[in-house]
Amino acid sequence: MKQLKHLIDILDLSVDEINGLIESADDIIARPEKYSEKCRGKKLATLFFEPSTRTRLSFEAAMYELGGNVIGFSEAQSSSASKGESVADTAKVVSCYADIIAMRHPKEGAPLVAAQNASVPVINAGDGGHFHPTQTLADLLTIHREKGRLDNMTVGFCGDLKFGRTVHSLIGALSRYSGLRFILISPEELKLPSYVKQDVLKKAGIPYVQTTDLEGSMPELDILYMTRVQRERFFNEEDYLRLKDSYILTPEKLTNAKSDLSIMHPLPRVNEISVEIDKDPRACYFKQVLNGKYIRMALILKLLKEAGTVE
Ligand code: CP
Repeated sequence: MKQLKHLIDILDLSVDEINGLIESADDIIARPEKYSEKCRGKKLATLFFEPSTRTRLSFEAAMYELGGNVIGFSEAQSSSASKGESVADTAKVVSCYADIIAMRHPKEGAPLVAAQNASVPVINAGDGGHFHPTQTLADLLTIHREKGRLDNMTVGFCGDLKFGRTVHSLIGALSRYSGLRFILISPEELKLPSYVKQDVLKKAGIPYVQTTDLEGSMPELDILYMTRVQRERFFNEEDYLRLKDSYILTPEKLTNAKSDLSIMHPLPRVNEISVEIDKDPRACYFKQVLNGKYIRMALILKLLKEAGTVE
């Protein structure tokens, strides 16, 4: 029997597969009509046990634009998880109704358990503080469309580097390209976890510096990836309130930035980027949102083709 391909961690995809998805998304953007019937008669199930605007709606928009349909739920309370049904059973049940599953869950590893029990492809749409591989694909597509490459640049990550799953996934993905350098800008309490530094950065020999200084780092950056302090991951509200406004990007802070800097943010933002920046041509975060839909279209197609469900 053919082994099903799932997407749980961005590292489940080879560099060639990521480059292929970017190429496919570029083609979807250029010729959307070619794809409008590709998933006719197929169903995507969006199983969201945690809140989402972009990820869930972009998955759903992606499936509709491929000609398919969508079923699912947007909170655990409206599913039988509230009666104690396990993730494994949920995956087995939903496999009877849908051709592919996108799951977000607060528990790290839950989408992996779903993949081990489903008979259709499972996509991790975010698990706790762990991984968010489709956000990473949206980020990679955005960087590629802005810079024309994924190698040879200095990337600054700023904010909550401890709990920010988008940061962990993007660092893992970029570490496989050459000529990258990272500047990790965060308060002491929200530094990148040691396991990411040891298992990813040191292993790949990626040069990086850790600092608390955003403005001092600015002139070196090709990409600035801002992040929200993840309130939902804090055990203590006082710590969150003390740290939440550590970095607020304002036009003044961009005085020494490169003219072709790309400012990214996975969103939602709270205070991290002043709304005045939205009209700066270097702001890319709403382009990331749109790119998220196109790369999810490319991913749904790839996984369904590999499962033999679509041609
Ligand atoms: N970037 C992102 O995951 O946004 P949502 O939480 O709204 O899906």
